[in-house]
Parts: sequence; structure tokens; C-alpha cells
Amino acid sequence: MKLLHVDSSALGVHSVSRGLTAAVVAEFKNNHADLEVVYRDLAAAPLAHWTPVADAADPASIEANRVMDEFLAADVVVLGAPMYNFGIPSTLKAWIDRIAVAGKTFRYTANGPEGLVGDKRLIVASSRGGIYSQGTPAAGLDFQENYLRAVFAFLGINEIEFVRAEGVAMSADHKDVAVQGALAGVGSLLRKAA
Ligand SMILES: Cc1cc2nc3c(=O)[nH]c(=O)nc-3n(C[C@H](O)[C@H](O)[C@H](O)COP(=O)(O)O)c2cc1C
Repeated sequence: MKLLHVDSSALGVHSVSRGLTAAVVAEFKNNHADLEVVYRDLAAAPLAHWTPVADAADPASIEANRVMDEFLAADVVVLGAPMYNFGIPSTLKAWIDRIAVAGKTFRYTANGPEGLVGDKRLIVASSRGGIYSQGTPAAGLDFQENYLRAVFAFLGINEIEFVRAEGVAMSADHKDVAVQGALAGVGSLLRKAA
């Protein structure tokens, strides 16, 4: 089984989402002896923004192809996605710009767009300072999880599993409860896979 682990938080060891993705990946390792993990840190090594390809031998093109190959090869993708200004970090957006490619991960047909990414499990570790869950007053400002749902559904992955710690900027206590709650959910996520 191949697992692609992607982090995008710029907060390093202080990051909530990095802690959550690490816990999810550790759980997969415990449950799958044959697990192969590919790791990408989009904060430590940001991808070049998308531009029209002038030269396939260009380092940015070569890296873009590697990003696509990693994504297509993965059975499971574990994505660390903090909320930045109601959306996702621009480093993560630059990664999505490299995996959402017409003819590879989606295509346009006479009946509309069609996602081409087959059977792939996507687990998103979502961290956010405030509270945006459905039914809360700020839910309409969630352009982070809702965006990820939309873009991956467009690519053919209709069900994202979220491990979520929200309200982490509200107080130290709230953060602890949110992170512990998210970590407690990791085991059941994996049991669902068994
Ligand atoms: C640049 C930046 C923008 C942020 N924007 C928001 C925001 O719009 N809404 C929010 O609730 N929290 C926001 N936060 C707080 C983060 O979502 C929160 O600290 C989260 O834990 C970040 O994930 P991380 O700990 O994995 O880095 C922002 C943090 C940063 C650094």
C-alpha cells in the first residue's frame, strides 16, 4: 500500500495539522506492514506556481511531473490543511494546481466535467483558529474544507475524511480539547478501513 503524506503548515513543530497528519500516518504504519510512505513538505520546499510550460526539461516541469506521479500512485493521501484567511495555504494551492490537470485527473465531456482519479482514499487533517463547522455562525466563511471537498470531488474523489481540530486559537484549553478530540478520532478512522 502506498501512502502520500503532504504537510502545508508553516508553523513547524508548533503546527496542529502536522501533529494530526503524523498521527494518521503512524496509525496506517501500525496497521499495514507493507506501507510505503512518500512525504512532501510544501512549506519547507514550496512548489513553483503554475505557469505555461515552455520547456519540459525545466526543473519546475520535472518537479510538477513528480508531484503528479506521486499523487496518482498513492492508494491513500494524508493531507495537512490549515485554514489560512478562510481558505488553504497558498503552498497547498500550488500543489493542487499541479495535480488538477485536464486529461490526467479530470476531463471535459459533452455531459460536463468528469473526474478521472479512481479509487483513492483522502484523509485531510484540518486545523483552524476559529469554529466553522456546519450549523455554526461562521460556517459560511469556510472556504478551506468546502474548497477541498469541491476540488477533489471535481477530480473524482467524492468522499474526503476529515480529522479536524478547530477553535485552536480560542484558548489553550479549547486547543487541548480540540486536538485530543481529533487524535481520538484517528483510531476509528483506521478501524473503518479494516
Ligand atoms: C496566515 C494565517 C492565517 C490564518 N487565518 C485564519 C482564518 O482565517 N481563520 C481561522 O480560524 N484561523 C486562521 N488562522 C489560524 C490557523 O488556522 C490555526 O493556527 C491552525 O492551527 C493552523 O494550522 P497549523 O497549526 O497546522 O499551522 C490563520 C493562521 C495563519 C498563520
